[in-house]
Amino acid sequence: MSNRLFIISNRLPVSIEETENNGYDIKKSSGGLVSAISSYLKSGGKEAFSEQIWAGFPDCSPEVWQKAHAEANAQSEYDYLPVFINKDDYNLYYNGFSNSLLWPLFHYFPSFAEYNDEDFETYMRVNRSFADAVIPQIRKDDMVWIHDYHVLPLAGMLREKFPDLSIGLFLHIPFPSYELFRTIPKQWQQALLSGMAGADLVGFHTMDYASHFLDCVEQVLKVEHEGQSFLYNGRRVKADAFPISIDVDLFHKAAESPEVRRHKNNYLELKGDKKLIFSVDRLDYTKGVDNRLKGYHKFLLDNPDYIGKVVFVLVIVPSRDEITKYAEQKKAIDEYIGNMNSSLGDIAWQPVLYHYNKIPFDEMVALYGSCDLALITPLRDGMNLVAKEFVATRTDKKGVLILSELAGAARELTDALLINPNDITEIAEAIKTGLEMPVEAQARRMEAMQACVAGYDVNSWATDLTKSLTAVKKNQSGTE
Ligand code: UDP
Ligand code: G6P
Repeated sequence: MSNRLFIISNRLPVSIEETENNGYDIKKSSGGLVSAISSYLKSGGKEAFSEQIWAGFPDCSPEVWQKAHAEANAQSEYDYLPVFINKDDYNLYYNGFSNSLLWPLFHYFPSFAEYNDEDFETYMRVNRSFADAVIPQIRKDDMVWIHDYHVLPLAGMLREKFPDLSIGLFLHIPFPSYELFRTIPKQWQQALLSGMAGADLVGFHTMDYASHFLDCVEQVLKVEHEGQSFLYNGRRVKADAFPISIDVDLFHKAAESPEVRRHKNNYLELKGDKKLIFSVDRLDYTKGVDNRLKGYHKFLLDNPDYIGKVVFVLVIVPSRDEITKYAEQKKAIDEYIGNMNSSLGDIAWQPVLYHYNKIPFDEMVALYGSCDLALITPLRDGMNLVAKEFVATRTDKKGVLILSELAGAARELTDALLINPNDITEIAEAIKTGLEMPVEAQARRMEAMQACVAGYDVNSWATDLTKSLTAVKKNQSGTE
C-alpha cells in the first residue's frame, strides 16, 4: 500500500441539489470521467493507496454542502474536498472557456468555438481557486492526478508550490492537431501548455492525441521532444496513451443480477417480436445524434418491411443545456423525432422511444442486455465508455455494436461494425447488416471485443498510469 491518491477534477462524483424546505438531494454526476474514476476508487484504488481524496465542485453553495457532506461522505469509499466557485465565475469558466471554446475546438468543431477574453481570465482565476483549495491539503508524498480540460493550467500552479510532487494529468477528450490549437490566441496557448507541462506525466486516450500535444509543445513552448518526453524548466515530462476503460466485473455481474433481470424481462415483453436498437449519450452535438436519427430514418425508408418491426430506444442525459449550442441540439433532436414518429409511426407503433433524462444503472444495463443493436455514432469522442459497457454486459454473446470510427474506442473495438458518422447511407446500411447478422457472427465479434475490453479494464488503466508516473519520477531523480 503506497501513499495517498489525490484526484482533482472540475466535478465531484456527487452533485448536491438544493430542494424545497432547505433540504438537499445527493445525485451521482453523469459522464465517462466520473464513471471511470469512481469505479477505480471503489476497486483497485482502495488497495493501491492508503487514502483517496477527490477534490472538485459539488454543484452547490458552501451552506448546502455543509448540510449534505456527512451523508455524501458516508456513502463513498473516499473523502471529498469541495472546491466552491461563485455562480458568475462558474458560468464563464465552465459554460464559457471550458465548454464553448476548449470542448468544441478539441472535438474538431472550430466553428462552434468562442474566443472571449473574460472567459479566459475567469478560467485562469478559477484554476487558481482550485490550487488555493487543494494546496493546504496536499502532502509532498501524495500522488496527484488532475483530470480533464477544465483544469489544464492547474498542474503548473501546483508545481510552483511543490517542485517534487508526483503530478499526473489525464485528458478525457481528444487533443487536436496544432492546426486547430493555433487558432487560440498565443497567450492562451502558452498558458494552457505551460500549465499542462507542470505535470510529470500527461495521459491521453490514444497515441494520436499524445503526438498532437507533443507537436503543440514544440511549436508553442519551443521545446523539442525526444521520443515521448521533453525537458521543461529542468524537469522531464512524458506524454503517453492510456485508453480509459470500465469496471468489466461490475457489468458482468450486473447483467446477471435479479434487478437487471426484472427490467430486462419487462423490456423483452414490451419488445415482443420486434427488433430493439438502443443508444444512451449525454446531450452533446459531438455525439452525432442527428446523423444517427437520419441514418435510422433512411434505413426504414429503404427497408419498408421493417416498419412496425423495429424500435429505437434513444436515451439522452441532460447536459450543459444552458449553452446555446446544446439547447439548439436538444431542439433539433426533439423536432426530428417528432417529425419521424408522426410521419412513419401510427397509434400502435412509434419508430423512436425517446427518454430525455438520466437513467438508473440497472435499467441502462437491462437495455444494453436486451437490445439487438447498440448504435453509437459520435462525430468525435475521446473514448466512449458506453460502447465498452455494452460489450461487457453481453454475457450472452449476442447483440451487434455499430460504432463510429471517430470515437477513441474504435481503435480497440475493431470487431464492431465501424461506420463514418457523417455517412448517413453507411449508417442505414450498417443497421440492416447488424439486424440481420447471424448469431454465430454476432458471437464471434462479441467474443473478440470482450477479450479486448477484459484485457484492459479500468484497473489496468489506472495501474498503468500510476506505474508510469512512478517511473517518470524515478527517472527525474536519477534513481532509475
Ligand atoms: N451514464 C451516466 N448516467 C446516465 C446514463 C449513462 O452517468 O444516466 C454513464 C454511462 O454509463 C457512461 C458515461 O455516462 O459510463 C458516458 O461516458 P462516455 O465516455 O460514453 O461519454 P461522456 O458522457 O463521458 O462524453
Ligand atoms: C465528459 C468530460 C467530463 C465531464 C463529462 C460530463 O466526459 O470529459 O469532464 O465530466 O463529460 O459533463 P459535465 O459537463 O456534466 O461535467
